[in-house]
Amino acid sequence: MLKETVRSKFRETYGTTGAVYAAPGRVNLIGEHTDYNLGFVLPGAIDKEIVLEIKPNGQDTFRVSSVDFNESTTFSANGEKTSYAWANYILGVVMELKAKGFDVHAFDCTFGGNVPLGGGMSSSAALESAFAFAINDTYGYGLTRMELAKVGQLAEHNYAGVRCGIMDQFASLHGEKGKLMKLDCRSLEYELVPFELNGYKVILLDTNVKHSLASSEYNVRRSQCEEGVSTIAKKHPEVASLRDVTLAMLEEVKDELSAVVYNRCEYVVKENIRLTNACEALKQGNIEAFGAEMYGSHEGLSKYYEVSCPELDFLVDIAKRTTGVIGSRMMGGGFGGCTISVVSNQIHDHFIAEATAEFEKQFGKKPLVYDVVISDGARKLE
Ligand code: GLA
Repeated sequence: MLKETVRSKFRETYGTTGAVYAAPGRVNLIGEHTDYNLGFVLPGAIDKEIVLEIKPNGQDTFRVSSVDFNESTTFSANGEKTSYAWANYILGVVMELKAKGFDVHAFDCTFGGNVPLGGGMSSSAALESAFAFAINDTYGYGLTRMELAKVGQLAEHNYAGVRCGIMDQFASLHGEKGKLMKLDCRSLEYELVPFELNGYKVILLDTNVKHSLASSEYNVRRSQCEEGVSTIAKKHPEVASLRDVTLAMLEEVKDELSAVVYNRCEYVVKENIRLTNACEALKQGNIEAFGAEMYGSHEGLSKYYEVSCPELDFLVDIAKRTTGVIGSRMMGGGFGGCTISVVSNQIHDHFIAEATAEFEKQFGKKPLVYDVVISDGARKLE
């Protein structure tokens, strides 16, 4: 359906046909705000994606169009931004590939998607990954998926102004059906973790809250973590990131850190421990223990990392009170977006009905509900 829409828009706009590619959004089961601290994350790609059609046009100007925004624009590879936020992600990918030494020839393209915007499922990473993958394949640059993920991440840093970690682009490019990926963001090695949820489903409840502060606060969190690291590194020169920090080291410098910086650092160190425990629980088939770590993660994100919001906390509280919801937490950068919950099939409908009704009573609007299936990463469709 999505593919057909993209194809017909491409034909209508450029009067020809090109190659079609897709790259998905992601969920993250646990390990939030750990990626840029070189810790661990546990994402999986999902069955919601960006689809694009692309064809080199032999000109100097890139022509790009969006099905969902019903807008078109052009740019040249001189780095000058367009007035369309969506187009600047594509420009960003082109410019980062140029920075790696590739002479990216201009193309025509159209894209569309069903990754909810601002829902915390990484629609922007899906867009960057789809283009990085498609351009690499079209022009035969031979970059690995990990190199393409880094291109997307840099596009986000330099063209969207968010100093994000590698998780989202990594997940969009490396996803495998039915598998989560335990990524070590320091070595960039990862392990596939089968996510067999016999009797359970993953549900996302979208608060539909989009805070304009989200990206600036994100960068603030990152700086606070860096501040903690530089203080600890004075005593422990081997420490290069919060990944290298233990709770004992943190305790040693407690008086030298502001309460806020201490809380941020402690959250990150503990989140890595929670993730390790959660993966162990999953391997042993102990889904309850896995869920308990998810609740712990939410509490840390809300109280110590302070990236939650009342709507997210409210949904997690309902989940906690509902027997059969084994774990729930806010997902992604925070300040809005979704909660992710692991819910037994038996109470799936009941939980959604309860959460929807109570949320509406409290906030005057319904949360959006998404069932997600862990799916494959970026690929060529035809
Ligand atoms: C956003 C960023 C990721 C990651 C998460 C928080 O999704 O793009 O790199 O930091 O927030 O875990």
